[in-house]
Amino acid sequence: MSLITLTINNKQVQVEKGATILQAAKLLEIEIPTLCHLKLHDGFENKPGSCRVCVVEVEGRRNLAPACTTPVTEGMVVKTNSIKAIKARRNVVELILSDHPQNCLLCEKSTNCELQALAADMGIHEIKYKGEMSTYAKDTSSPSIVRDLDKCILCRRCETVCSEIQTVSALSAVSRGFDTIVSPAFGTAMVETNCTFCGQCVAVCPTGALAEVNNTTKVWDALNTEGKLVIVQTAPAVRAALGEEFGLEYGKPVTGKMVAALRSLGFDKVFDTDFAADLTIMEEATELMGRITNGGKLPMLTSCCPGWINFIEHEFSDLLDSPSSCKSPQQMFGAVAKTYFAEKMNMDPKDIILVSVMPCLAKKYEAARPEMNSDVDIVISTRELAKMIKEAGINFEKLQDEDFDSLLGESTGAAVIFGVTGGVMEAALRTAYEWITGETLDNVDFEVVRGLDGIKEASIKIKDLEVKAAIVSGLGNARKLLNKIREGKADYQIIEIMACPGGCIDGGGQPYIHGKYEILKDRMNALYEEDKNKTLRKSHENPAIIKLYEEFLGKPNSEKAHKLLHTKYTNKEC
Ligand code: FES
Repeated sequence: MSLITLTINNKQVQVEKGATILQAAKLLEIEIPTLCHLKLHDGFENKPGSCRVCVVEVEGRRNLAPACTTPVTEGMVVKTNSIKAIKARRNVVELILSDHPQNCLLCEKSTNCELQALAADMGIHEIKYKGEMSTYAKDTSSPSIVRDLDKCILCRRCETVCSEIQTVSALSAVSRGFDTIVSPAFGTAMVETNCTFCGQCVAVCPTGALAEVNNTTKVWDALNTEGKLVIVQTAPAVRAALGEEFGLEYGKPVTGKMVAALRSLGFDKVFDTDFAADLTIMEEATELMGRITNGGKLPMLTSCCPGWINFIEHEFSDLLDSPSSCKSPQQMFGAVAKTYFAEKMNMDPKDIILVSVMPCLAKKYEAARPEMNSDVDIVISTRELAKMIKEAGINFEKLQDEDFDSLLGESTGAAVIFGVTGGVMEAALRTAYEWITGETLDNVDFEVVRGLDGIKEASIKIKDLEVKAAIVSGLGNARKLLNKIREGKADYQIIEIMACPGGCIDGGGQPYIHGKYEILKDRMNALYEEDKNKTLRKSHENPAIIKLYEEFLGKPNSEKAHKLLHTKYTNKEC
């Protein structure tokens, strides 16, 4: 390994050959502002060097150098804060702002916008430059994502995440010069493209050019509609990140406070999607055992993640008999709420409004799919829930923990780990082990399937049966596995797939982390902590689920269960 020595702001530092000035400055804890540059998952980096916000002065060079793309050289002397560099950076931001709407107050990303933060840090209070402004029609075609090109700064982060990490390539730069935009091919509306609505583009967009469809007004309206019972379900990953929006430490599960906040907002019943995650395991494990014993299609692919389902429908339609037919926990919950729960409450399902709080933007699209019968009425993200709590003036930090309502609120530890990659697999193994062996599984922790790696493989012995499993997160990794299946080289019985790298903890609707992916570890640990603290940790031991089968569904994979809890997939290849 050859090392380079250079000086930045009068401090010497040694870095590996090939490193950039930005990387060297980081070692000295010197922050250089960036905008287009972003470190992404799996070692990917977005560094088109296009915004020029990171320019620094290098001794002996006439022109300023972009720190994010300029490699260090032996003896280099860099000044990050010379007056020339500071003025140039400010000029760059003023130029970007001259072609950017200035209605920040009304922007979905306000207070989370990196351009806004940069302008504030630089003390920019007026735009010196007046020129032509780009104006485009907003793309509001999808129920998940809004594209507002007027706010696009052409950093291409969305393109990198969509093409390199997710390998979907729904967005790319088109045209030239002032007319350049980042868009689906031929300006097609998002809903008509192969976009999976995973929302990873929204998560990395530094401005409001890509944002979620905000449904909070619909929820406020629902909560104030006379004669309706308004109930809410919350997905497992939400509790691992919601606290971040209120300044609480990373990785602090806030389940009890979240329940209390939802009650304060006015929901009549606060339920847990974890209940339906336990139900998913009952249905999915039964389906898997059936496929293994009856010579059904293997490997079976999990089907909880709607972004992943959109991906296979668009890109691998020849494999549509591989995913489990189980609906996602969100939709299983919806189906049970509008039938079993409605019956129990002696209510017309039309008088129940079900709101979902999800870490995911694809869940908005999923709920709107015609085959889901509008069981889930409104979907909001973790971020939208945080906005509602703030709008209502609730002091989140001071809330006392409260419990979910019974009937659809009981869950096990197996369900809460659905929110992280490997969690669905581990939950399924806990149940499959006991069903197959008839013995009690004392140590329920399957460490072998845990961790944030994009592709994991495991071979688990259950008596005489060897279960070969793969766990995948991120659609680029899913593509690799699906290609293996196509080639007949995937020797697995079951594969868990999540569209977002790391699973739902990194969903497109979670609080923004601005490239600090180390936070995902904290969110992951929050879920394993909650699992560990649960009295019941196996889905089939959930008493509310046992009761649901006894009173309503019969047994797993029964005709009634199939009608309500299973679905079909559609070939959407163009
Ligand atoms: Fe370096 Fe944009 S951050 S050029």
